[in-house]
Amino acid sequence: MTTIDATTATDRPGDADTTPVLRARGLVKTFGRVVGLDGVDIELYRGEVLAIIGDNGAGKSTLVKCLTGAEIPDQGEILLDGRPVHFKRPQDARAAGIETVYQTLAVAPSLDVAANLFLGREVRRKGPLGSVLRITDRAGMRERARRELRELGISTLQDVTVPVENLSGGQRQAVAVARAAAFGSKVVVLDEPTAALGVRESGQVLELVRTLRDKGVPVIIISHNMPQVFEVADRIHIQRLGRRAATITPKSHTMTEAVAIMTGAAEA
Ligand SMILES: Nc1ncnc2c1ncn2[C@@H]1O[C@H](COP(=O)(O)OP(=O)(O)O)[C@@H](O)[C@H]1O
Ligand SMILES: [Mg+2]
Repeated sequence: MTTIDATTATDRPGDADTTPVLRARGLVKTFGRVVGLDGVDIELYRGEVLAIIGDNGAGKSTLVKCLTGAEIPDQGEILLDGRPVHFKRPQDARAAGIETVYQTLAVAPSLDVAANLFLGREVRRKGPLGSVLRITDRAGMRERARRELRELGISTLQDVTVPVENLSGGQRQAVAVARAAAFGSKVVVLDEPTAALGVRESGQVLELVRTLRDKGVPVIIISHNMPQVFEVADRIHIQRLGRRAATITPKSHTMTEAVAIMTGAAEA
């Protein structure tokens, strides 16, 4: 279970916009002798898309795994809405409103689009059919799936009864992102969501990221694609050798400067 330490809660009214939705301080994560994270700080604010960039092995995935309960940091502190959280597993983070699309695509190929959207949180039929016989409310889930996809502006997935294995890579990724978007009430985290996609499909995922932000859900997105990062991000966290080298914006720095910080050729 998620442990929330109420004694350190900052419930002061009026500071909602300045308290980061998600914040981590001094995160350390080692794997045997390999240092994945070496004291990382990160802040995600309301209404923003925060990109995380960095070379292979810089600790990007480990960082978001610690923020989303897939890894437990050895040291450091994670605060959600100003309150310390201690996620032990991804379900804890999901229950707290943090939805994640991991690098390795997490869809169930043989299930249809609607079933994938509700994977792990299936809606049961009302009454004993649902509570005793555990019969799922298929029609209800399909209806909600259609509504969610419509609200997210995903037009490529008209038919929610199609098995996901029959979809293109981009459509599958759209299902994974839509799932996160539909249930990520506080934060949505995407690890390389466009890595396997073509230009048009990538564009659709980025559009989805903007839609989410505009709906008030802040997004963390890991990407190697510098033009995409500069197109979609409000701020850019540059991860290098297990630490945060800098946080910049597309206005404050050029892509070349960002890459220089990333590779250690320049200081922030
Ligand atoms: N489960 C693991 N076991 C051992 N080493 C790991 C594991 N996960 C990550 N690492 C190591 O931690 C470092 C950071 O990895 P990662 O967070 O995946 O980097 P990135 O996503 O930036 O490419 C790398 O040196 C990687 O090899
Ligand atoms: Mg990675």
